Amino acid sequence: MIGYGHQCIDETDISAVLKVLKSDYLTQGPFVSEFEQKICSITGAKYCVSVSNATAGLHIAVAALEIENGSEGITSPNTFLASSNCMIYNNVKPIFADINPISYNIDPLEIEKKITDKTKILIPVHFAGLSCEMVKINAIAKKHGLYIIEDAAHAIGSQYADGSYVGNCKYSNMTVFSFHPVKTITTGEGGAITTNDEELYQKLLMLRSHGTTKDEGKLTKNPGPWYYEMQSLGFNYRMTDMQAALGCSQLEKLDSFKKRRREIIKQYNDAFSKMKYLKIPVEPDNVCSCFHLYVTQIDFASLGKSRSQVMQELRDRGVGTQVHYIPIHTQPFYKKKYGYREGDFVNAEKYYEQELSLPLYPGLSDEDVKMVIKAVKEVIE
Ligand SMILES: Cc1ncc(COP(=O)(O)O)c(C=O)c1O
Repeated sequence: MIGYGHQCIDETDISAVLKVLKSDYLTQGPFVSEFEQKICSITGAKYCVSVSNATAGLHIAVAALEIENGSEGITSPNTFLASSNCMIYNNVKPIFADINPISYNIDPLEIEKKITDKTKILIPVHFAGLSCEMVKINAIAKKHGLYIIEDAAHAIGSQYADGSYVGNCKYSNMTVFSFHPVKTITTGEGGAITTNDEELYQKLLMLRSHGTTKDEGKLTKNPGPWYYEMQSLGFNYRMTDMQAALGCSQLEKLDSFKKRRREIIKQYNDAFSKMKYLKIPVEPDNVCSCFHLYVTQIDFASLGKSRSQVMQELRDRGVGTQVHYIPIHTQPFYKKKYGYREGDFVNAEKYYEQELSLPLYPGLSDEDVKMVIKAVKEVIE
């Protein structure tokens, strides 16, 4: 059975983790800072704070901005829950702006329509790895005095339209990555926040570790070497050294992972581009995405099969699929707490109705890809 996503772990990854297990530090050791430095050199950002997962990263990224209670933040309805839940954790109301029906990313024109005098933050999500229209989003943020946190959970290794790398924070205050096993590189669970702002960096370091500091320059007194102070309310969101060592080893393969993902996508696109009921994903000419997902749109109604039926028929042929994403505003919690309803964001809802993600990960062999193509053609043509 081929799943829609899967980690790629080799012997070098395994020995990197074993090395940590045999060392003195399982956490707060040397690999965490090595991993953070590597993320900085890959993205071009000045600072990086690794965290236990991207949800934790988004939580403290919003917290670090110290936005007043009752403010509003805008994100896409077509994303995983964490992109908007991170605002609720910080007493910021999540507002959604509909997606562009071609890129499936948040539409800058829709963002403009949702801005009120309470809006303080924008959280664009680089969905499936494809970078958002950051020049436009950055211009909106500047015009209205808003912060930007990029949710780049899907987008390590992706590039913006100007060729620079997602996470360099030239268009935002912070960027958050995820290293969950189905993502492009993995640390098991794990995440990282990048920023070019030293003040935010210092706040993130404290928020990751119970709001404490041992930094002599920051202490209100210094009775001795044991002393630390809690100066804000933080969390234990630290990454372990086992995770960081795995992350360092995985980052060495980021380019080859990206290359293989793009090769598979080309094979799929060549095979599926003329299908009647299936629409392939679009990548604008000037954007180079490190695709995390292969998202298709299937006209189930015209095909005469339900999505469940298509998923089952593909499963019977050994092909696993998934749906990304159920629009967040249609979740019972969001409806009850904020009064959202079906019909509020028509592009995201229409997209969701037709979405099916096909297997995409570097470990797929050419044979596997051929097998997926054959199964898709049998079931969907
Ligand atoms: C867009 C997006 N943001 C945030 C997250 C949260 O990532 P994590 O599982 O590392 O907490 C995910 C996870 O799937 C995601 O897809």
